[in-house]
Amino acid sequence: MQLTIKKGAALKQKTACLILGVCEGKLKEELLLQVDKDVDGAVTRAARCKEFSGKKGETLLLHVGKSIASERVLLVGLGKEKGLGLSGLRQAASSVVKLLTEKQLGSFLLELPQVAVKKSSLKERVQAVAEGVLLAGYRYERYLPVDRPGRPAVLEKVGLLVGEKDSKSEAEAALQTAQAIVSGVCFARDLVNAPGNEKSPEYLALQAVGMAEKCGISAKLLDRKQLEKQGFGAMLGVAQGSERDPYLIVLEYRGSTEDAKPIALVGKGVVFDAGGISLKPAEKMDEMKMDMGGAATVLGTIMAAAQMQLPVNLLAVVPAVENMPSGTAIRPGDILTSLSGKTIEVLNTDAEGRLILADALTYVGRFEPRVVIDVATLTGAVIIGLGHHAAAVLGNHDGLARQLLKAGERSGEKLWQLPLWEEYATQVKSDFADVKNTGGRAAGTITAAAFLQKFADDYTWAHLDIAGMAWEGNGKPGLPKGGTGYGVRLLVEYLRGEVK
Ligand code: BES
Ligand code: MN
Ligand code: ZN
Repeated sequence: MQLTIKKGAALKQKTACLILGVCEGKLKEELLLQVDKDVDGAVTRAARCKEFSGKKGETLLLHVGKSIASERVLLVGLGKEKGLGLSGLRQAASSVVKLLTEKQLGSFLLELPQVAVKKSSLKERVQAVAEGVLLAGYRYERYLPVDRPGRPAVLEKVGLLVGEKDSKSEAEAALQTAQAIVSGVCFARDLVNAPGNEKSPEYLALQAVGMAEKCGISAKLLDRKQLEKQGFGAMLGVAQGSERDPYLIVLEYRGSTEDAKPIALVGKGVVFDAGGISLKPAEKMDEMKMDMGGAATVLGTIMAAAQMQLPVNLLAVVPAVENMPSGTAIRPGDILTSLSGKTIEVLNTDAEGRLILADALTYVGRFEPRVVIDVATLTGAVIIGLGHHAAAVLGNHDGLARQLLKAGERSGEKLWQLPLWEEYATQVKSDFADVKNTGGRAAGTITAAAFLQKFADDYTWAHLDIAGMAWEGNGKPGLPKGGTGYGVRLLVEYLRGEVK
């Protein structure tokens, strides 16, 4: 697909479809009046019969006449001007792409970067619109025939029209940023969508290495033997129920000076979570192929950061395992010795994420990280608390949590902070080991984080529980059913804030 920046008068652009954003009630703007005149008042008539007034999500597709160079004009409602933000712009772009590709149109021009969004720069608007377009163009079709009936058109030539006074080179830089970020998001989505039979821990490791090679990132894998030798007891405990070998994936991107301490990202990489001996119920177990969503986010983020050449040193660590029930699986009641030396009583083998993260969090400590952020589909409880609209952030450093919350607001990938007061640690105290892997029903997301904190307290740390966000169950514009790649845009936004 060709996505380019265009400049010039909107109505003079030759294209199959020109897309104009319209805020609620703003039908009297100069450009719209011209369109209305060209179509003999069809816009006014559509407004009169309440078919189109600029409300969020509304669209009006017009076949236009001689005074306009494009074949069609699509008006897209943006809602009230006052409430319009960059997320609204991104969503509008995604909705438009969904509508047009379903109508078999793959080439068009969006005027959306010129929409007046409060306190926004041209760069931000171009980035948001480009992201909206590219994210809506994503599909997972590996196991589908390309010639199936009803397949939406593939994006071909899409233009973003900037204003006469706007800087084209600035817009082009923003477009490149969006392309880098979305390539990271789509890489993450592909990984999440891959079915469990294809997606062994080894597959995840090889995908990571392949990506790293392409992006100038150095990669290292620790296999079972090396993990045994080094004492990754908690991670190996989870892995021992599966026929498939575990891997620790270690990627390093160096965008800053040699001496600059890295930001470490740790992602939960459970390629399939059957629950182990504490077996999950059958309903929706298929979705547990997404239990490596944290890994996907972390890998997508380092990929995007490398392509953007962000001046930071980054480390991405993924413990990749499968959690299966079998004759060799760990049992409830087993006690594991983790890489840190701390012992863990396993009361529920389905609380496996925190076990593999414990060892990964200990491991990244060796790199003297400036900051550690782990990302994990860790608890069902976070879905009870926040639903599918935000991930939870917890940690041992309020400043870091605040930065992440801000990046969440700016990227539109929302976070909500939960407390991690020391009282919660009592729930993971064990009678037989240093810590136990469940804390009872109360505050499940927080007690999971309290468990992780035992392995992360030597550095500045935040934990993102993305269990409600890694998988889209229904499909929305820009967010097709399946893996979401949630967190890549958020973390890239955080990293950009770190280097300014
Ligand atoms: N992978 C699950 C959490 C999850 C649930 C992710 C739903 C995505 C959607 C995790 O390993 C798990 O099973 N957690 C248990 C913990 C419990 C046994 C303490 C849970 O949340 O029920
Ligand atoms: Mn589990
Ligand atoms: Zn899990």
